[in-house]
Amino acid sequence: MVNRMGVLLVWLMLQFIGPTLSQPFPNYHADFVDIDHDDNQPKWWQAGAFYQIYPRSFKDSNSDGVGDLNGIADSLPYLKELGISATWLSPIFTSPMADFGYDIANFTEIAPIFGTMSDFERLMKIAKKLDMKIILDFVPNHSSDECDWFKRSAAGEEDYKDFYVWHPGRMVNGTRYPPSNWVSVFRGSAWQWHETRKEYYLHQFLKKQPDLNYRNPKVRDTMKNVLRFWLSKGVAGFRIDAVPSLFEIAPDAEGQYRDEPRNDWVNDPDDYGYLQHIYTVDQPETIAMVYEWRAVLDEFHDGAERILLAESYSPIDIEMQYYGNATVDGAQLPFNFLLITEISNKSNAEDYARTINKWLQHMPEGRTANWVLGNHDQSRVGSRLGSDRVDMLNMLITTLPGASVTYQGEELGMTDVWISWKDTQDPSACNTNASIYERFSRDPERTPFQWSASSDAGFSNASKTWLPIAPDYKLVNVDQERQQPQSHLNIYKQLMQLKKQTKTLQLGKTEVKALCGAVLGVKRYLQHDFIYLTLMNIFDDVETVNLKQSFSDLPAQMKVVLVAGNSKLKVGDLIDTSSLQLLPKESLIVRSTTTYYTYYTNGELRQLPVFGIYLLLAQVALYLSYRRALLTLN
Ligand code: GLC
Repeated sequence: MVNRMGVLLVWLMLQFIGPTLSQPFPNYHADFVDIDHDDNQPKWWQAGAFYQIYPRSFKDSNSDGVGDLNGIADSLPYLKELGISATWLSPIFTSPMADFGYDIANFTEIAPIFGTMSDFERLMKIAKKLDMKIILDFVPNHSSDECDWFKRSAAGEEDYKDFYVWHPGRMVNGTRYPPSNWVSVFRGSAWQWHETRKEYYLHQFLKKQPDLNYRNPKVRDTMKNVLRFWLSKGVAGFRIDAVPSLFEIAPDAEGQYRDEPRNDWVNDPDDYGYLQHIYTVDQPETIAMVYEWRAVLDEFHDGAERILLAESYSPIDIEMQYYGNATVDGAQLPFNFLLITEISNKSNAEDYARTINKWLQHMPEGRTANWVLGNHDQSRVGSRLGSDRVDMLNMLITTLPGASVTYQGEELGMTDVWISWKDTQDPSACNTNASIYERFSRDPERTPFQWSASSDAGFSNASKTWLPIAPDYKLVNVDQERQQPQSHLNIYKQLMQLKKQTKTLQLGKTEVKALCGAVLGVKRYLQHDFIYLTLMNIFDDVETVNLKQSFSDLPAQMKVVLVAGNSKLKVGDLIDTSSLQLLPKESLIVRSTTTYYTYYTNGELRQLPVFGIYLLLAQVALYLSYRRALLTLN
């Protein structure tokens, strides 16, 4: 009798346990998209952390007050400590430095102020040992007027005659005028009269930066060979400077250039904004040129893929063309500057969501996103968007899909430094006057990197550095921030590490939403992995949000993996996804505690359905033994 009851009870329990264990966890709806990625590793650049070095201001090894290649080489372990995958160096080539290296006199020579070719080769060796990639700045639109090519062109030498854009000008009633009304980015006419050649030459930037003539095949070949020269030295790719300016409209049948129309918003005729640049930027030939450069990179098959980062502040539909199309590849990473151009310190969560989704929604299938927060031309993140938002923004660009791009010093929270008119160096400001120069100067974001609290912030031993050191260097520097667990530097390092270790952040799908006016949420999810959420409270009120209302398929609780700001939460704490309180300017990353889909498909948990089969077999065995017992009794 006891036997019979026992068997019956066990049978009943099995009926109950079996189906329960075969159900998905109640928190999930199992509507995951299948991402075919199982053995898929991102390429080195696809989830890479890029770091821009402005060589003049990074580390001075020979005490002349200007940074150099040996300084960079000796500092590469610092970049390794940060978790950087590649660093791009602003120009290091021979140059009179009218635009601090963006005016190149010899494209295959190292500027003496930065070092020698053997210093460069040493840098490459150290980088290789550290498994770090070096990317160079390729400045194709113009050279220096001190470049040999320009001198020969000005002298009318046959091979170089059409290397630059020359024009005799417009004659009106016997008076000579520049060929068109085009204005230079750095103010004033884009045409400069040349006494020897007795013609005007075009310069979209400084008059010491004459524009190369991309309608001349010899120029195109020469510049491709510049790429090959550095590629064979082992560089991992290039950041291409000022891409939209490469081509101008071709002259008309009478050999004349058309004037550009007025832009009613600006009244100063010397200001670049005075005209709508319909003939001098974003000409269709430019896109094809980038594709040809990509083909040059693809000639180099050895080792990892070589990449192009394209600098362009063009409208989104043009930006997207730089990626390539269905048949041709272009730049792997056309810089995404939207967080610079469309976000201000007033932007709310909806503005952020719209801006981020703009890139993601326009990006062609199969291409990789990237997120740039700053560079040597833009006011620093702390000054532009707020010192108390530095961590949340680093968190954002690291947890969004694709590559992140950091300008040196942003990992420390360096801010713009006010530079007097007397100390001003940037030609963009020097071309103006003492009352308006601050609007144009890029010096504030170019001051020396802050290594320590010692003199010259550990940047140099010189009595005077090329730009002054920031007054806050005793507090904001690498040494100091290494010692504070919650410093910008340490949060940045944790972020880099997290990205490196986390498949979901490297390969997962993305949803970006405003949870309310002040709170932005980014969900990353991947079929076989954990779900991650980045949450940032942009403003100064305490906010309570229901994460489940905005994002589907969230568990009831999630675990904190990273916190920034004055959070009360600690790593490892569990948060309630239906009600989470965020303090002013608090930001954090949380993840699901289990990987739901694993349950069906992967690893140890795959045993669960197998366990179900065991239960079924056990039921059959029980039934059989019970039946045998009955038969024996009878
Ligand atoms: C790019 C560079 C900038 C330079 C200009 C001209 O925009 O980033 O620094 O002045 O091109 O080369």
